Amino acid sequence: MRSVGHSVPRIDALAKASGEALYPGDYNFDNQLYMKVVFADRVHARILRVETTNAEAYPGVLAVILANDVPNNEYGLIVNDQPVLCGIGSPKPYSDRVRFYADNVALVVAESEEAARNAAKLIEIDYEDLPGLFDPRTAIKENNNLVHPDHGSNIFNSYRIRKGDVESAFAEADVVVEDYYETPYQEHAYLQPEAGVSYIDAEGRITVIVGGQWAHEDQEQIAHALNVPLDKIRVIYPAIGGAFGGREDMSLQIVLALAVYHLDKKGIRRPVKTVWSREESIIGHHKRHPYYIKAKWGAKADGKLIAAQMELIADAGAYAYTSSKVLGNATLMCTGPYSIPNVHVDAYSVYTNNIPTGAFRGFGGPQGIFAAESQMNKLAVALNMDPVEIRMKNLLREGDLLSVGTPLPKGVSMEDVLRQCALRAGWKVIDEEWKAPDNLTDRKQNIGLGVACSYKNVGFSYGAPESCTAKVELIGQDRIEEAILYHGGAEVGQGSHTAFVQMASEALDLPLDKIRLVAADTSTSKSSGSVSASRMTFMAGNAINGACEQALIKWENEERPAIAEFTFRPPKTSPFDPETGKCEPNFSYGYVAEVVETFVDPDTGEVILNSVICADDVGQAINPLSVKGQIEGAVVQAAGYALMENFIQIDGIIKTKTLSTYLIPTILDIPVSIDSLIIEHKDPIGPYGARGMGEMPFIPLAPAVQHAIFNATGKWFNKFPFTAETVLLGLNEE
Ligand code: MOS
Repeated sequence: MRSVGHSVPRIDALAKASGEALYPGDYNFDNQLYMKVVFADRVHARILRVETTNAEAYPGVLAVILANDVPNNEYGLIVNDQPVLCGIGSPKPYSDRVRFYADNVALVVAESEEAARNAAKLIEIDYEDLPGLFDPRTAIKENNNLVHPDHGSNIFNSYRIRKGDVESAFAEADVVVEDYYETPYQEHAYLQPEAGVSYIDAEGRITVIVGGQWAHEDQEQIAHALNVPLDKIRVIYPAIGGAFGGREDMSLQIVLALAVYHLDKKGIRRPVKTVWSREESIIGHHKRHPYYIKAKWGAKADGKLIAAQMELIADAGAYAYTSSKVLGNATLMCTGPYSIPNVHVDAYSVYTNNIPTGAFRGFGGPQGIFAAESQMNKLAVALNMDPVEIRMKNLLREGDLLSVGTPLPKGVSMEDVLRQCALRAGWKVIDEEWKAPDNLTDRKQNIGLGVACSYKNVGFSYGAPESCTAKVELIGQDRIEEAILYHGGAEVGQGSHTAFVQMASEALDLPLDKIRLVAADTSTSKSSGSVSASRMTFMAGNAINGACEQALIKWENEERPAIAEFTFRPPKTSPFDPETGKCEPNFSYGYVAEVVETFVDPDTGEVILNSVICADDVGQAINPLSVKGQIEGAVVQAAGYALMENFIQIDGIIKTKTLSTYLIPTILDIPVSIDSLIIEHKDPIGPYGARGMGEMPFIPLAPAVQHAIFNATGKWFNKFPFTAETVLLGLNEE
């Protein structure tokens, strides 16, 4: 192959390394104004009065924008449950309420950042505080205090799975393991805090330069809130400093557009810029959902799983964001990559007055898999079986039914992925049984190994419409001189744009430098769908292949230039049946297994991650070095999640709002070695066989670390992060 499968240099590498690449905060225009977004500073309250006279009179202030200035004061990726600005005088029911600390209540636009900031302090707001709900386990039962009275319940959404009969199965089980798990918040901590500039372009479009994950969705949400036609809004993504799901929901998109819209009505046409501080980013954008999980699993003496019963409660925070999508994945994945005849799952996402939670690498997978893999490792201990051996007896194989009653799509490789990972870690197969290496558990040296595995879907799934469009223009006369690829997909640092160009080069049989990519601008391409859910390489590749194929036919037919546009639609999926959960959840998966080694310092409780082996079936690595980068990045990010990242929020107020109090891994904290095993079992419908892979290396790490800590110390920690303090306290309690 010409380009696919080669570790070609990233097309954005030079500009990013040299500093030439412009991120949203780097854009400056003549005559630009600055906007300060005013947060509520209350967790649950009604706004009774807003007085802006002094703020408006502050020198340099051009506008103070409030709820009643928003044409259609609502937005949301899944449901429109969030006011653009909370306040009075807006027809949106209950929009006079603030529901979390950083709910936006006003925008101040001024000649300078300082003037905007100072004027913001002069806005007077009278609140009537309402009782706050901070624990989803109590909010779920609360009927008198509702975060969204018009929703009628604090349960935003729920799913259930009913397969077989768990009660009879538990009665027949030789061993039953029952436990309770809590998974933590996680902050995305991308390098680039939220920023952007808005202006009205030469064609009269309200234009926003911002970082996001789906430009066309941003465009739709802006158009909805401003109540203007879609083609009057343009969204451009420049270089983006990381996303990880944290840019899937709106941050500054709508308010930046609203500011220029509002000024334009007053006859002022000037660009408006905002850059959030790290503190504003941490308190202002959503987090990974904490989950509270009850688990009860039963197995026969030979290790065969016969029943799993799970209850999941997710803290959705003040607004839905992608809670239902995240809950869907958690519901499916909370029983692991296993064939289990009897499954009973009840899963809920619950509104509270905490910070909203939403997409974050793995999308519910890490939460569900933590409980599932922990249960598996405990069953292995209870049955005195090897942890790989027990998995081999239960893994989903081609044709096996998921908990939701349908088989995985063809190309199931979980068994080979775990096999390769275990062999690399020193397991042996003796008399057809898996035997762990001696260092599985070494309590004298406080060293242990941990195992976990998972799968990860590609795409939004559960019946959500899926598509991705690409357009190709072939230029030249006798031969193709250049190909222009128009694509909506975002480059959030993961290498998507390089993969697009590689796949176009491959499909057109042209050198890489003959492909020019025009990307991530709603005015130049149709929708790609989101850069999320491990879907972009898979979806874009199929769209690019289709467009290239058609463009080449036109080229053969002497069309000059030869232009073709193609929309790829994957096989349809279906939503959970409300009673049984039965569905065809996804059209493609990747498979992952990890073995980690930890050392636990008995004096300090510190857990050192010595090594990680991460085996991933990526189908076809489009760019092997980028794949390795994704694996290593995901492992490090998951090591932060498992061991360090301690997000503290008390009664809805975030205490860890800086990177000096919310600690993420630095070079001194990362695993001493990460062994990335790239496995390539082609996906039958992936481009060149590629599967999605950006999220899966993240998913099994926390339960593998939990298992390794157990093997090093004899203690199970069912709640993480496994900080030194938590571990030391746990080791000392009897
Ligand atoms: Mo992601 S959590 O699929 O952006």
